[in-house]
Order: sequence, then C-alpha cells, then structure tokens
Amino acid sequence: MVPSRTLYPHQWSWDAAFIGIGLAHVAPERGWHDLASLFAAQWPDGRVPHIVFDPGVAEKDYFPGPAFWEVPPVRQDGRSVRTTGIVQPPVHALAALHLHRVSPAADRLRELYPALVAQQEYLLKHRDAGGLGLVSIVHPWESGLDNSPSWDAALARVPADPEVLARYERRDTSKAVASHRPTNADYARYIGLAESYRDAGYRDFDLAETHPFVVECPAFNALTAAAEAALAEIATVVGADPAPHLERAAAITEALVGHLYDRETGQFHTRDVRTGELSKARCVNGLVPLILAGLPGEVAESLVAVAESARFGLPVPSYDRTAADFDTLRYWRGPVWININWLLWRGLATHGYADRADRLRTAMLDLVERSGCFEYFQPDTGEGIGTPDFSWTAALVLDLLAETPPERE
Ligand code: GLC
Repeated sequence: MVPSRTLYPHQWSWDAAFIGIGLAHVAPERGWHDLASLFAAQWPDGRVPHIVFDPGVAEKDYFPGPAFWEVPPVRQDGRSVRTTGIVQPPVHALAALHLHRVSPAADRLRELYPALVAQQEYLLKHRDAGGLGLVSIVHPWESGLDNSPSWDAALARVPADPEVLARYERRDTSKAVASHRPTNADYARYIGLAESYRDAGYRDFDLAETHPFVVECPAFNALTAAAEAALAEIATVVGADPAPHLERAAAITEALVGHLYDRETGQFHTRDVRTGELSKARCVNGLVPLILAGLPGEVAESLVAVAESARFGLPVPSYDRTAADFDTLRYWRGPVWININWLLWRGLATHGYADRADRLRTAMLDLVERSGCFEYFQPDTGEGIGTPDFSWTAALVLDLLAETPPERE
C-alpha cells in the first residue's frame, strides 16, 4: 500500500508499519504482504530503505526518485525494484507483533524475525555515530518528522546551495499547497544532504567527521528501543532468546534518559552529534519516549505534564504552541499527526494514565470523524490538511476503533 496515491505513490517504510497495524483488524494477510515486500528490499547490511519505489510509477511522477538515489536494483517477484539509501524509524517489529496478536501467525513472525533483527543491528552498530549507544540519523527525512524544528539548529550548519534547486524540479509543491511544505532553502539542504550521503556510497564510516548532518532523535531512538522490547516478545513466540533484546531495550532507554532528556524542560530533545548540543526546540518527538515501559516513572510523569500543558494539549500538535515560530499549517511545525498521537496514546496507557489515554483516543476519533482521513490536521480548527485519503490515518483509526489493549513491554 502507498501512503497516498497522489503525493506519495511508492511504498514508505514506517508508513508500511502503521498501515499494517490497521490492516491487522481487517486484512492481516495484506499487512504481512506489505511488510514482506518492504523487507524483500532490505540491503545486505541490514538497512531497510525509507522508500521502495513502485516500478510502475514514472520517474517524473516523484522527486527524488530512483534515478536520484542511484541505488542498484534488487530482484523482487521477478521484477527489478529500486530503493532509496536512507532509513526511517523501525516501527516494524511493533507492527509484526501487533499483527500476530490480533490474528495469530507464528509462521509469519518466524519468517520475518531474522530480518527485523538485522534491521536493528544495522541501526545499533552502523549508526551509533556519537558512540553513546544511540542511533544517529543522517537526514531529517530519516526521522519521519521531516520538517520538524528539531533539525533547525543542526540544519543551519548545512550549506543551502541554491544551485541544487536549479538542477532539479521539486514535485511536492506542485502536488500540495506550497505554504504547507518546506521552504526552498530547507529543500536545498535536504537535497544536498542526500547527495552527499549518496556520493559517499551510503557508507556510515566516520559519519560525525565527514557528514554535515548527524543527529540523535528521541523518537527514533525510543522506537528503536520499543522494537527491541517487541522483538523480545517475538523471540518467545519463535523459540529464540528474548534476553539480548530486553538488554538492548534497557540500554537504549538508559542512554536516552542519560543524554537526550532535559530536566528543565521536562522533555527529550534532539542532540547534534557534531557539536554535542541539545536542540532547544520543544517538539513532539521529545514526548514519544513515553511509549517505553522501562522509562523511569518521574520522567513519564513529566512528559505527560508537558503533553497536557499549554505548550501542547490533546491531541498533541507537532510543535510547542507557545513558540514564536509555531505554524498551524506547515508540516511538522504545528499540525497534529495521527501516528504520533497513536504512539502517545499507547504510552499513556502503558504508564497507567488510562483516563488521559481515553481522552486522547476520543480526540483523535473526533478529529477524523469531522475532517476525514487527512495526512495532518490544523491544530486550532481541526481542519484536515496535506493529502486526503492518507493511509496511516485510516489504518490507525481502525486500530483505535478496535481499542487494542496496549502491550505491557
Ligand atoms: C512525509 C512524512 C513522512 C512519511 C511520508 C510518506 O514525508 O513526513 O513521515 O513517511 O510523508 O507518508
């Protein structure tokens, strides 16, 4: 399944996981099939590409497409399939466990388990650029929160070369409202960063010294830890040893709290590995570690207080409402996203905040009932913005309606 037929006509990595969580309730075989097709494009080093391109879609219909990324094709079901060379958050172990819980499929879990483990090993071994036991991302697109103010400080140090945009034509602004999309200067940086990683052969050696953008995102790392917790449960189903997964989940959680949590703001922040500095921006990725059952109680309590404060509120917008540059329309700089709120909903329930979890669930359902399955929502009016008929919004609503009890990790 694609995220959107118009704006995103290929398979996206973390979208496939969220979509699978919804398909679990109505068409689990399709969910497994989506995960299998994504992992069939996994690289030999274990990385799961952030986009698997549909060979049936013309190069001109999406930018940056396969010709930009220059990744050699892999064979899949007798077809030649091409991918990008960057990753997205590893939500797939959670999705696989969810699919199995809703509709037991131990054989499917057994087939996918080694690939899920290789995905984690890639992230934890090749991407620990800061040496703290946390995963670094090398491009804002890897976070899934592409245009978040979380990256502004680190991105400001990346040159914005206007020449880059003269060489390529943006497709996103012709398919969506330009004022909702990233600015040209940021887009030039995005393309320049992708070119620089590509031209270095997608190698992860010496990243902090050689690549201009290397940051640790609290949501990406929380999802990596949550994946280890899910893998521990999957291991018990498939007859593998859960212990190493539990150890890794605990170690990542400890590193997150030790290095990305700020006691003063009461939330997590992004760290620029090249300077060692925490970003000052208060963004929703700094609340996502709430999904971790192993989070110290006082940290969970603080995240809940921040989420409910005037800075955010339920449903939680993508950025601090009180910030001078809070933007109700531009994506990831204010609007409400269902996938992030779905994660926070689970986090609230995991930490025993049942009433708040219920309130958040109702708020998400109201929003979608009123406005439709949009990509994101204007945080003051609830108006649906971005692309309509957005797959993960629809999928996660199915899950909210089924009210699956969150797992105790
Ligand atoms: C946007 C989002 C990203 C998502 C992609 C496809 O780029 O920022 O998180 O995966 O669209 O839906």
